[in-house]
Amino acid sequence: MSAESDANKRLAALAALEFVEEGAIIGVGTGSTVNLFIEALIPYRKRVRAAVSSSNASTQRLLEGGIPVLDLNDAGDLGVYVDGADEATRARHLIKGGGAALTREKIVAAAAARFVCIADESKLVDRLGTFPLPIEVIPMARSLVARRLAAYGGRPVWRQAVVTDNGNHILDVHGLVIDDPPAMERDLNQLAGVVTVGLFALRPADVLILGTSEGIQVLQ
Ligand code: 5RP
Repeated sequence: MSAESDANKRLAALAALEFVEEGAIIGVGTGSTVNLFIEALIPYRKRVRAAVSSSNASTQRLLEGGIPVLDLNDAGDLGVYVDGADEATRARHLIKGGGAALTREKIVAAAAARFVCIADESKLVDRLGTFPLPIEVIPMARSLVARRLAAYGGRPVWRQAVVTDNGNHILDVHGLVIDDPPAMERDLNQLAGVVTVGLFALRPADVLILGTSEGIQVLQ
């Protein structure tokens, strides 16, 4: 991570604190930008009741920072969910899953009234798809799903070193032309063996906070 992108991520992470309501149970995502958000939240931890986390990695950081972590089944609906992205458009459609946490991220986002996405400005794109689209698959269906994805013009690559927190595999799909993110999310979700598509378009971010060299830019 360059020093500039690190500083921009930090700006976005700090700005997200404004969206944390007193006494709330908040959703917390995964990744280096979220790690900066957790770091910024720790001094104000008394402000929140607890967090619901999208990964074992974030759970560990939250607990180390003295922030209680609840199972989503015990938390109910959430006010706000804060998470990063690998790519984002001005319509707040996202590609996520670079950290392999996409399934739990999509679940926690679905439980939240407001999804606040934090990123440095390099993540803003005109069209999604330069970043290979992560797809979580049931291990026995990996080759089947890969063959089906080829029909969409994609080149799926198995992220071999990774098993997700749910015990599944990740295919990173290169070369997709994503002109209609909600339609593609809906289509790829239908493939047997797909657990989660890393497109967040049917439920986009509500607020996109970008850290830039000139300060923060908020799209909502
Ligand atoms: C993890 C994610 C992350 O939000 C995404 O990879 C961005 O990470 P970072 O903040 O490190 O750039 O989707 O599955």
